[in-house]
Amino acid sequence: MNGENLKQQRIGVIGAGVMGCALIKGMLAAGLLKQENLWAVVATATSQKRIGDELGIPVYRALPHDEIALTDTFLICTKPYRVLGVLAELKQSRALKPGALVVSIAAGTTIQQIEQALPDVPVIRAMPNTPSLIRAGVTVLAAGSHARDEHTAVAQDIFQSVGKVWQLDERHLDAVTAVSGSGPAYIYLILEALADGAVKVGLPRDIAFQLVSQTMLGAAMMVQDTGKHPATLKDEVTTPAGCTISALLTMEDGRIRSTLARAVEEATRTAAGLGNK
Ligand SMILES: NC(=O)c1ccc[n+]([C@@H]2O[C@H](COP(=O)([O-])OP(=O)(O)OC[C@H]3O[C@@H](n4cnc5c(N)ncnc54)[C@H](OP(=O)(O)O)[C@@H]3O)[C@@H](O)[C@H]2O)c1
Repeated sequence: MNGENLKQQRIGVIGAGVMGCALIKGMLAAGLLKQENLWAVVATATSQKRIGDELGIPVYRALPHDEIALTDTFLICTKPYRVLGVLAELKQSRALKPGALVVSIAAGTTIQQIEQALPDVPVIRAMPNTPSLIRAGVTVLAAGSHARDEHTAVAQDIFQSVGKVWQLDERHLDAVTAVSGSGPAYIYLILEALADGAVKVGLPRDIAFQLVSQTMLGAAMMVQDTGKHPATLKDEVTTPAGCTISALLTMEDGRIRSTLARAVEEATRTAAGLGNK
């Protein structure tokens, strides 16, 4: 990541909650932007004070019309049901710079919905995840019909400051939402369940969490670093008549694979409906 595309940018983050703050912190930590080139909007006075104090950037409780006219990129990070209202306000302001970019991270809100609300505006839809908070996130970007390479480059720099970035056609974004957007929650549940097992057989819970989470990290890195199929890696640790195969067959009895795969399918269906609520 070189971040060159952000050097000249002024960015407004509309909705500085969990994800909005993660992105602001990532960009600042990566040294890609200075505080004076960032501003944010929240709804409540409590968040306004907390985030202003913590991040040292101007935080507003309504769209700041003076700032809009100076802003190159708007990062829309409100809950999905608020996005169209925010876009309508941006349009009504009549202050958008020509070529200003809108990047939305809202699940289920389509590029078409955003382009209808803001005709002719370059749009990028992004789906990050919460490990962005520790700069270990995954983001998938999809470009709208007016987005050019320089717009995608800006979005790449923003999200690379908090993790890894891929670009896909928008038709995949509900699936991405279900896999990597919601994915950390599935992993936490599996982690907790394995730790429960460890506690049941006598390990202290804090040790159990450390052992399981480090095992998950190591196994994920094995998949990434070796490029081997997970089934091959699984077979390599499964000794005939050993304890690993005992555990694996117990998991298969509980239909673990189809349960996890169907969960992703169900989450994809839900994600597709979020922009309409
Ligand atoms: N969390 C995830 O795992 C995740 C992953 C990928 C994508 N997303 C997407 O990220 C978006 C934000 O999720 P989140 O978890 O960060 O939500 P969140 O923590 O609830 O943050 C929402 C933020 O929006 C602010 N807000 C509310 N109404 C507003 C308005 N009218 N104008 C401007 N700001 C307003 C809230 O202000 P207050 O703090 O004052 O209430 C809050 O700062 C969602 O669209 C979600 O689909 C989330």
